[in-house]
Amino acid sequence: MIENRTCISQLKDNVDREVTLAGWLYRGRSSGKIQFLIVRDGTGLCQCIVEKAKVSDDIFDNLKHLGQESSLTVTGLVRAEDRSIGGFELAVTDAEIISPAVDYPITPKSHGVDFLLKHRHLHLRSQGQWCIGKIRHTIIDAIRTFFNDNDFTLIDTPIFTPLAAEGEQTLFTVDYFDSQLHLTQTGQLYLESAAASFGKVYCFGPTFRAEKSKTRRHLTEFWMVEPEVAFIDLDGLLELAENFVSYIAQQVLKNNTAQLKTIGADIEAIEKIKPPFYRLTYTDAVDILTSDKTQKFLAGQLQQLKNTKQKTETKIDELQQQQSGKIKQWQKDKNAAELIELRADLAELDTKIENNPKHAKLAADFRWGKDLGGSDETIISQMHDKPIFVTHYPKQAKAFYMKADRDNDKVALNFDMLAPAGFGEIIGGSVREDDYDRLVARINDQGLDPENYGWYLDLRKYGSVPHGGFGLGVERTVAWLTGEKHIRQCIAFPRMMDKVYI
Ligand code: 4AD
Repeated sequence: MIENRTCISQLKDNVDREVTLAGWLYRGRSSGKIQFLIVRDGTGLCQCIVEKAKVSDDIFDNLKHLGQESSLTVTGLVRAEDRSIGGFELAVTDAEIISPAVDYPITPKSHGVDFLLKHRHLHLRSQGQWCIGKIRHTIIDAIRTFFNDNDFTLIDTPIFTPLAAEGEQTLFTVDYFDSQLHLTQTGQLYLESAAASFGKVYCFGPTFRAEKSKTRRHLTEFWMVEPEVAFIDLDGLLELAENFVSYIAQQVLKNNTAQLKTIGADIEAIEKIKPPFYRLTYTDAVDILTSDKTQKFLAGQLQQLKNTKQKTETKIDELQQQQSGKIKQWQKDKNAAELIELRADLAELDTKIENNPKHAKLAADFRWGKDLGGSDETIISQMHDKPIFVTHYPKQAKAFYMKADRDNDKVALNFDMLAPAGFGEIIGGSVREDDYDRLVARINDQGLDPENYGWYLDLRKYGSVPHGGFGLGVERTVAWLTGEKHIRQCIAFPRMMDKVYI
C-alpha cells in the first residue's frame, strides 16, 4: 500500500498541493536538465516534470534511464496546465522506482495487429485499449441500470445446454460426463419460461457460436444481453430497443467524452442516437437493395474509395522518400509508425474496392425470401445516419421460435437493428410463436426434434401469452460507438475462429 497516494483522476482537487502518484512510466523524454515523464495509473495520464535542480542527482539519473512501463511513485506539486495531457502536471520533488522494466516489447512505434494480439496481456495498458475498456464498462453499467430501473428481473440462464436455438451449425459441443451438451448460443428459451413468472426479465452473459466466419463482426465467444417481456407486441419491442440503445449512447457521452476524443470516435454521430430510429420492413429493404438509386450510390462510393486510395499511395511515397533521406531518429520512428498504419489502410481500401462491385451485384440480384447478408446490411446501414429497424423478414429465413404475422403468414414478427454508417447489425429480436400447434410445425419444418423442446412447448400449454424480446451484442455495440473497425478490439481477451492468442 502506498501511503497517501493520490490518483491522477483526483488531480483537479489538488492543484497547488503536494501529492504522490503511483503508476507506470508510459513515456519519457529528456532534454538536458529537464525530463518529461508521462505517468499512467489506471485513472489517467499525467505529465511529470523533473528538473535536475529540484531533485537529487541519483533520482534524476535513475529516472533518466528508466524503461517504459517501469512502476514507480512520484511526488510533487500539482499545477494546472491546459496544454498538458489531462490538464494538470506534476513538478517532481521526489520519486521512487518500485520495479524497473527493461525492453518493454510494445514501443511507441506502431506494431502489427498479430503482434499486439500476442501481447494482449501488455497491450491492454495502451491508451487505445484503456479508452475502449472504460467505454465498454460504461456500456455494461448502462445495460444493467436501464433494465434494473425499468422493473426487469435478472435471470441467469445456463451456459451448458442441450438446446440449439440459433441453428445447429454454430453449436460448440462439449463432453458432459457420459453425454454431450452445447455451450449456450442464447439464453432466450429459458428467459421465455422466466418471463411467464416475472413478466419482464433479462439475462446477460457470455454466448458461444462456432461461427465459421472471420469477419470483423464475429467472435466465437461474445457477450449478449437479452430482455424478454410478457404481453408485448412488435411495436412495443422496437420502442424498448430504441429507448435502450439511446440510453446507452447517452451514458457513454456523459461518462466517456475524454476517451471518445482520445480514440477519435465520432461524437456527433453518437449525439444523433435518439428515438425514433428509422423503420423499414424487409420488403422495403429489398426494394432499396434492388433499386437504381443503390447502384448509383455504390458507384459513387467506389469512386471515393479510389480517390482515397490514390491519396494514401501518394502519402506513402512521400514518407518512404523521407525515410531514405537524412532525418532525425524520432522523425524516422514517427514515419515508420505512420507507414504501418497507412499500409494497413491501403490493404483495407483494396479489399473494399474489390468487394464493392461484388456487393453491388449481390444487391441487384437480391430476391425476396433470402436472409439479408452482411453486405446487404452494410449497404442499408451506409444509407442512414441513425439506427434502422428492419422488420418482418421471411419466416423461412429465420429461427423457428419467431411468431408468424397473422396478417401475412409468409413473414415473421421480428426485427434486426442495424447501426448506421455501414456498421451493421447489433440487435436481433422477435415476438415469439405462442401457439402450440404452429410452434410444433415450425420445429418440424426446420428438421428439429420436438422431443427436445418438450418443456419449451409446455409454455404454450399453460397460460400462453404474446411475448417477445431481443439480444444485443456487447462487442458490436462497443465497436460501433468507439468507431473500432474490428470487434476483437472490444473485449479484453478475444476468441476468434482462426486464433486464440493468449
Ligand atoms: O440475432 P441473434 O442471433 O439473436 C439471438 O440470439 C436471439 N436469441 C436474441 C433474442 O431474441 N433474445 O444475436 C443477437 C445479437 C446480434 O445482433 C449481434 O449483435 C450479436 O448478438 N452476435 C454476435 N456478436 C459477436 N460475434 C458473433 N458471432 C455474434 N453473433 C451474434
